[in-house]
Amino acid sequence: MRITICRREHFNAAHRIYRKDWSDERNLAVFGKCSNPNYHGHNYDIIVKLTGEPDPEIGYVMDMKVLGDVIKERVTEVYDHRNLNLDIPEFADVMPTAENIVVKIYERLRPHLPAHLDLAITLYETERNFVEYAG
Ligand code: NI
Repeated sequence: MRITICRREHFNAAHRIYRKDWSDERNLAVFGKCSNPNYHGHNYDIIVKLTGEPDPEIGYVMDMKVLGDVIKERVTEVYDHRNLNLDIPEFADVMPTAENIVVKIYERLRPHLPAHLDLAITLYETERNFVEYAG
């Protein structure tokens, strides 16, 4: 009996999507407003999903409170109210697209969650645009 538990957390962050080796005009043509030189913000939601067998004694796949604390400590308190390009080392040379952010979140969380549980992450950049990564 495999169950998926899901925990939603939230952070606000600024970013700019651009290639340093391209002109502003070319970045605008390819990346649109997300390339604006003075950055812009998003209200990001992350949904962390863990799949596995519930513990037969306590009925939990994992304690949701503990899961929430891990997400806050490892991700949302690190990224919240930051400029991802300038403040977060893993984006110094990696464009903070939703695709790259969800991979970095996965890498931040995977070592701190039970190894026997499958991990999948959904990252909402807007209500309509979201990405998923499962390792
Ligand atoms: Ni953007």
